[in-house]
Amino acid sequence: MRVAAAAVTSGDARMRAARFPRGMGLPARLGIGLRGPRQRILGIALSGTVTALGEGVTSLAVGDAVAGMASRAHAELVAVRADRLVRKPADVSHDAAAAVLFGGTTAMHFLHDVAKVRAGQSVLVIGGSGAVGSSAVQVARLSGARVTGVTSGRNAELVRRLGAETVVDRTRTPVDRIAERFDVVVHTAGPLSTAAGRSLLADGGTLILVLATLGQMVAARGQVKAGVARSRPEHMARLLSLVGSGELDPVIQESMPMAEIARAYEIVDSERKVGNVLIRP
Ligand SMILES: NC(=O)c1ccc[n+]([C@@H]2O[C@H](COP(=O)([O-])OP(=O)(O)OC[C@H]3O[C@@H](n4cnc5c(N)ncnc54)[C@H](OP(=O)(O)O)[C@@H]3O)[C@@H](O)[C@H]2O)c1
Repeated sequence: MRVAAAAVTSGDARMRAARFPRGMGLPARLGIGLRGPRQRILGIALSGTVTALGEGVTSLAVGDAVAGMASRAHAELVAVRADRLVRKPADVSHDAAAAVLFGGTTAMHFLHDVAKVRAGQSVLVIGGSGAVGSSAVQVARLSGARVTGVTSGRNAELVRRLGAETVVDRTRTPVDRIAERFDVVVHTAGPLSTAAGRSLLADGGTLILVLATLGQMVAARGQVKAGVARSRPEHMARLLSLVGSGELDPVIQESMPMAEIARAYEIVDSERKVGNVLIRP
């Protein structure tokens, strides 16, 4: 397929810089390459147009606009398994499609499949302005939950607009000073011990460590959930349809030509990006 837009995600930046949560450095390097990524072309979320079909592929046609999660997305042309793609609705731009998938599928996995969030529940999203956090705020709100978002003051208005009833400015109120207790706590940014996360839970609540150290991941059980999100095609299709209907905003900080990919990584490496950064090959 020909790539029209691809996200430069926190996942790509981790791999490029070999910057992993505590304890994960060695296993990650063994997986992706000891001295640098064996797979030189990064990128995992993309949108574009089908240019050719592999043998036996009948679900798509040349010329179809598609979006999905697949490796080597930071390229002009890329070979992608058909089952990693879904059709892009005409009323969703390539930028919006590429932006919504990484954070959106992560939010859907943890909130719907793992925590099974329901209407009326209270959800705390720590890191409400990142790619995962901005999606988590919206996915929780669309499920009928009451959302509290933690972010710095500069992003408070954004997180409120995405659907948080309450916004905690992390520069004024540290997470461990939040008095309310929540049915679901989603941690996506900053340091958080499992004990501190648990103490934010209401009875029977669920702590989701989207960002977890190796120790936290190994010890996660019962109310504490961690692990790697699965990007399911059903979730991708649902997210694109929500963007098309205007119910979900794929927050985009900036979309830039491929030639500026180094600058895109600088923004992501700052760990302060707002929503998503895109390149257009
Ligand atoms: N488990 C999985 O399967 C999975 C999947 C996807 C991502 N992840 C991980 O999840 C994490 C989040 O990913 P992402 O793409 O959403 O990251 P991101 O977009 O780079 O997050 C950036 C945001 O984090 C906020 N932030 C920075 N420090 C913070 C703090 N101490 N407290 C609260 N917010 C803070 C920043 O806003 P302010 O500074 O303005 O507050 C910024 O908007 C990454 O570590 C990523 O590796 C895991």
